[in-house]
Order: sequence, then structure tokens, then C-alpha cells
Amino acid sequence: MTPDLLHAGAAARAAWESKNASGGREASRGRLLKFGEPDFAHGVALYLEDITVSFDGFKALNALTLSIDVGELRCIIGPNGAGKTTMMDCITGKTRPDSGTAFFGSNIDLLRLSEPDIAQIGVGRKFQKPTVYEQLSVFENLELALAADRRVRASLFSRLAADQQARIAEVLELIHLKDESRRSAGLLSHGQKQWLEIGMLLMQDPKLLLLDEPVAGMTDEETERTAELFLSLEGRHSLVVVEHDMKFVDQLTQGRKKVTVLHEGSVLAEGLLADVQRNEKVVEVYLGR
Ligand SMILES: Nc1ncnc2c1ncn2[C@@H]1O[C@H](COP(=O)(O)OP(=O)(O)OP(=O)(O)O)[C@@H](O)[C@H]1O
Ligand SMILES: [Mg+2]
Repeated sequence: MTPDLLHAGAAARAAWESKNASGGREASRGRLLKFGEPDFAHGVALYLEDITVSFDGFKALNALTLSIDVGELRCIIGPNGAGKTTMMDCITGKTRPDSGTAFFGSNIDLLRLSEPDIAQIGVGRKFQKPTVYEQLSVFENLELALAADRRVRASLFSRLAADQQARIAEVLELIHLKDESRRSAGLLSHGQKQWLEIGMLLMQDPKLLLLDEPVAGMTDEETERTAELFLSLEGRHSLVVVEHDMKFVDQLTQGRKKVTVLHEGSVLAEGLLADVQRNEKVVEVYLGR
């Protein structure tokens, strides 16, 4: 970096910090933001606008516009190939769109950040296949997830260590694995492994959680408990859940939350599950298959 750019960067940072320190904007409800921290004061966790992604000329996403509120639990449905996973790839920096904008909070331009940086600022992603450390215990898996957090690694205070222990205990409770904490992760059922992986994401306290087909392969009972888990996370985190299982979506939306239907890379419909299930366009492309 040239000295000029360094100087410009320092100046931009100083200007930004003095603007936030002035208190004029009451950033994040009166709390001062650290440099580079997402600003959720406007109530929006994620905002995608006109995102287009092409693969060899085929538009997997086609001017996709979508907004998720802070603390919202949003289910996204849509037929195979609608672009749901590609959308998550764009949010997490795995795929760079050809055009469009993607903001985390009102100030973080996701399209300028690397995949690790996006994870670091509070976007957690659950892939379909659980990736836990099979030889380690449930507890050790959660400990490891904590160690992966740079903020925690940098701190050497014992008070924080106590906080971390408390956080592990809290997450074990949330993911229904308190009684299994000393078991090897390899011995867990498929559903329990999925919960453990969600728990590992929760150790980093992500503001936004992206969950791609989280109940695929789960038993009915595991699916129901997963819905309970997500409902307990709503509010503290924003959740974007992609799922084909309509019973699960119904349980998550409780007849009052809106769902988004994706088709051919754009939003086809948005509304209550019962309403979109009656929507003719939706029936045609998806539910009536
Ligand atoms: N890396 C890639 N290269 C080429 N085409 C791709 C690539 N990734 C996705 N696609 C195509 O983009 C379209 C959208 O795929 P995507 O995986 O996002 O759909 P989806 O909604 O997640 O589907 P499903 O419900 O089956 O998971 C598909 O037609 C897919 O074949
Ligand atoms: Mg997919």
C-alpha cells in the first residue's frame, strides 16, 4: 500500500469514527460502533439489490432483490435450480455476482469482503452436510469453534474464559446436546450432528445465520426439534432458512411470517405460506409439480 493510500485510509477512518462518536446517528441504538462493525440501527440485517449471477450465460440469479430484517426468521422456498444456494454463495463471498449490491447492516458492502472476513463480521453459514470433528467430543467441537474466532483468540483475560464456558453451556442447552457433551461427535445421530454444527456456528454469535436445507435427512422428531431451535434463535439472530420441507416451513412461520419464493433467480412471490401456496404462479412452477 502506498503512503498516500495509508494516509487516506487513516483519514477516512478518523472521519468515520468522529461521525459515529458525535452521537448524531445513535448508531445501533446509541452504542458506538467499532470501525468496520455492521450498523443495524435501521433494522435491516441484509439487503440484496439487483444481484445477477451468470454461469456460461445462464442466469442463476436474475436481478434478485431481497431484504431481511434484524432478528427476522425468513424461509426461502423454490424449485430445484431456483438459485437459493447461489444466493447464499453470494452473501458469503463464495461467488461474486456480475452485478448488483449486497449489504450487511446499512454499512458493510459484502461484495468487497473476502469469504473469511464475511464469516468474521457475523455471517454464519450451515452447509447441508454436517462437518463436525468426529473424533472430538461435542464439548471439544464447540471449544474449537470458539478458538476459530479471532476476537476470542486475541483476548487473554480469565473473565472472558468464564464467559466462554458459560456460552458453551448455553449453546449445549440450545442444541439439546447437554447430556451428550462428553460423547464423541462421531457417535451422534445425523440430526444431532447437524445441531452440533449449528452450535459451532452459534459459538461465534453470528448476527445472520444462513441455513441451506437444514432438516434434509432428519427424522420427523429431529425436524420438529430443529424448528424449535430456530424459533428460539429468532430475535437474537436473523435467520435465512432454505427448505423444501413445507411442514417444517409451516412450523417455522407459524402462520404469520412471510416466506419468499424464488424461481429462475428472482423473487416470484412473497407472503404468508398459505397465500403463496394458493398463488397460481407458484403452484405452476413449484408446488404443483
Ligand atoms: N458453479 C456453477 N456452475 C454452473 N452452473 C451452476 C453453478 N452453480 C449453480 N449453477 C446452476 O445455477 C442454477 C441455480 O442453482 P442453485 O444451486 O442455486 O439452485 P437451488 O435453488 O439451490 O436448487 P436446489 O433446491 O436443488 O438446491 C442451477 O441451474 C444450477 O445448475
Ligand atoms: Mg440448493
